[in-house]
Amino acid sequence: QVAAQTMDVTSIKSLAESPALSSVPSAYAFNMNRNDEADPNDPEFAIPIVDMSLLTSESPDQRSKIIQDLVKICQEWGFFIAINHGVPESLMKAMIDACHGFFSLPDEEKEEFKSGNDVLEMFKYGTSYNLALDKVLLWRDFFKVRVHPEFYSLYKPACFSEVSMEFSKRTREVALEIIRAISESLGLEPNYIHDAMNMDRGIQMLAANYYPPCPQPEHAIGIPHHTDHGLVTLLIQNEMNGLQVEHNGKWLTVNGPANGFFVNLADQMQILTNGKYKSVMHRATVNNKATRISIAVPHGPSVDTIIAPAPELLEKECQAPKYIGMNYKEYIQLQQSSKNYMKSTFDHIL
Ligand code: SIN
Ligand code: FE2
Repeated sequence: QVAAQTMDVTSIKSLAESPALSSVPSAYAFNMNRNDEADPNDPEFAIPIVDMSLLTSESPDQRSKIIQDLVKICQEWGFFIAINHGVPESLMKAMIDACHGFFSLPDEEKEEFKSGNDVLEMFKYGTSYNLALDKVLLWRDFFKVRVHPEFYSLYKPACFSEVSMEFSKRTREVALEIIRAISESLGLEPNYIHDAMNMDRGIQMLAANYYPPCPQPEHAIGIPHHTDHGLVTLLIQNEMNGLQVEHNGKWLTVNGPANGFFVNLADQMQILTNGKYKSVMHRATVNNKATRISIAVPHGPSVDTIIAPAPELLEKECQAPKYIGMNYKEYIQLQQSSKNYMKSTFDHIL
C-alpha cells in the first residue's frame, strides 16, 4: 500500500502549519532508531575539515599536505567540510532566501510547477520523494533545478535566476577544484576525472529541501538513508542542523561553520575508484523547533558518460574491477526504478 494514495498530499509546509497538528499523521510515521547515533564529542567522530585556500596556495608543500589528507578522508569518511572556499557567505544566504521565497509561494502557484518523475527533468517540484512509490511520506518539500550544462531559469521568486546563476557558477568552481584535488590524491593527473567524466557537459543541479518543524521528530524522517548518484555533492543549509552521515557504523549529526560547504562523495566516485573512495550513506532528520532549509548541489558526469573503474587505477593497484560500466543516465534510472527504490544501487551492479 502506497502512503500517498491514502491521503490528499499537497505540501508538508501546509500540513505542518495547520494549528491542530499535534502528532505525526500515520502516512508519515517513520520510526527513527536513535540509539545508533554518534557522540559528536568523541574524537573518533570529529568531522574532517578541508581548508580550500591551501589547495590554491602558492606553496606546493601545503598543497601536497592537503592532498595527502584527502586520501584518508575520502577512504574513511567520504565526507568533509570545505572552508575558505571563496564563495561569499552573503551569496550563500541569498541562495537560501531565494529558495525560501519559492517554498513560501501559495500551494496553487507551486502546483503549476509540478512535473513528471524523470530524474533528468530541468525542473521538478514536489513533496515527499516520489508519491507514486513512497510507502512512508517524507517530512519534506523539495524542488530541483538543473543549472549545468543547460541553465534553467526559474522565474518565481523574481530574484531566483540571478542568484542561482551566480551561486551555481561559484559552487561549480569549488566542486571542480575538489575533483582536481581528488584526482591528484589518487596519483592521477589533476584533470583526469574532469576529462574522463566529461565535466564540460556534466550534470549539476540545485536541489532545495524544506523541512518544517515536526511535532514528533522521532517519528518522521526528512530523507531516509541513501547515497547520491553523482561524483560529489556540496550542501549548504540555514541555521538548522539535520544532516547525518554514517561513520564507523553510527549516525553523526553534521554541525559545522555556517559558511562551510558540506561535501559528500557520491556513487560515481566510488565506482571510478573501484571502491577505494567511499560514497557516504547519509540522511536528513527533522526537528520540532524551526524550519530547516538545505540546498544540495550534486555534480555528476555528462549523461552519456560510461562510468567504470579507472583502468589506470586498476593497473596501479593490481585489482580486478568490482563494478560493471554503465552510462550515467542508465545508472540514475536504475537507482530510481521501483525495483531499487530506497536500496543501495551497488547491490545490483557489484
Ligand atoms: C540530501 O541528501 O539530498 C539532503 C540532505 C539534507 O537535507 O541535509
Ligand atoms: Fe543526498
